[in-house]
Amino acid sequence: MVVSKSWTMVKHFAGAPKPEDFKLIEKELPPLQEGEILLESVFLSVDPYMRPYSRRIMKEGDVMIGSQVARIIESKNSAFAVGGYYVGNCGWTTHFISNGKGLHPLLSEWPGSLPRSLALGTVGMPGVTAYFGLLEICNPKEGDVVLVNSAAGAVGSVVGQIAKIKGCKVVGSAGSDDKIQYLKEIGFDEAFNYKTVSSLEEALKKASPEGYDCYFENVGGKFADAALPQMKDFGRIAVCGAISMYNDAVPPSGPYIQPTLLFKQLRMEGFLVTRWSDKYQEGQKQLLKWVLEGKVKYHEHITKGFENMPAGFIGMLSGENTGKAIIQV
Ligand SMILES: NC(=O)c1ccc[n+]([C@@H]2O[C@H](COP(=O)([O-])OP(=O)(O)OC[C@H]3O[C@@H](n4cnc5c(N)ncnc54)[C@H](OP(=O)(O)O)[C@@H]3O)[C@@H](O)[C@H]2O)c1
Repeated sequence: MVVSKSWTMVKHFAGAPKPEDFKLIEKELPPLQEGEILLESVFLSVDPYMRPYSRRIMKEGDVMIGSQVARIIESKNSAFAVGGYYVGNCGWTTHFISNGKGLHPLLSEWPGSLPRSLALGTVGMPGVTAYFGLLEICNPKEGDVVLVNSAAGAVGSVVGQIAKIKGCKVVGSAGSDDKIQYLKEIGFDEAFNYKTVSSLEEALKKASPEGYDCYFENVGGKFADAALPQMKDFGRIAVCGAISMYNDAVPPSGPYIQPTLLFKQLRMEGFLVTRWSDKYQEGQKQLLKWVLEGKVKYHEHITKGFENMPAGFIGMLSGENTGKAIIQV
């Protein structure tokens, strides 16, 4: 009999998630039925979307939502061999039973030398978000100036590197000097620590006095208030996230954006990565190729131990991670 451990959300988060909002539960899994497989999570992902989506789709007591790379440890389904690795979307749990629906194998060309955890990061959902969000919504051209915030994170670090591949000048912001150093190492032209600059407006002007053609938005709030007026005419803004606002019970009222959009003739579009579900693999394959060619570098912030999953999630939301935040069971 296999005992599965899962993290549940005891009560809805008020402000930033706290350790006491989570509870570890254990459950004995039943024997497999014909057609079923038993999987063991190897790497689990902690992502910003879990904070807003907990409110939208979870009720108190539910197992936390999320995805993992899992290994098949028992199979009564001839299509799924023991030892195979799959990306599942089965929540914060160590073991689970599946009929195979909704499980995605790692790309067949995945080399043994590459960590499988990248299927949750640079070659997974965050990478694909960066790929399609940047290329299809910002539509960057050679010579464009691209701005991305939360730039040292899972999505932002890939956005900046793809923009460099496309021949753009890239400006990034992040919340520590070590992260700024990292951004320089992976090829950002300009980077600044938004927590220590005396003025966001001045930092943005200094990084690109001529303004910005593209803005990949991960943060929202005050950062956007400073960035929008610095867009060039006909600039394109991809709204990927608004992490500075996820903990707000009441959305803050800021400067109203319509006059800026109007007089600069900007295009601003929100998106969810699920929009590109039908060509998800196309994005993954390109990202894998770039990683193997050394054109896209990756960094992972690995928290060891399933018992530390809430701490890894809370830490990611408060900026502890450079690159993708991963839990290794
Ligand atoms: N639209 C989609 O389909 C989609 C898909 C994936 C992700 N996203 C969004 O993309 C964004 C980045 O996600 P990710 O997975 O790459 O996470 P991440 O950047 O790896 O990690 C989150 C980072 O957010 C930054 N942060 C936290 N609070 C902040 C604040 N108040 N102001 C500014 N920065 C703050 C922290 O970095 P600092 O040290 O820089 O503060 C932290 O490391 C999030 O907004 C997420 O919701 C959207």
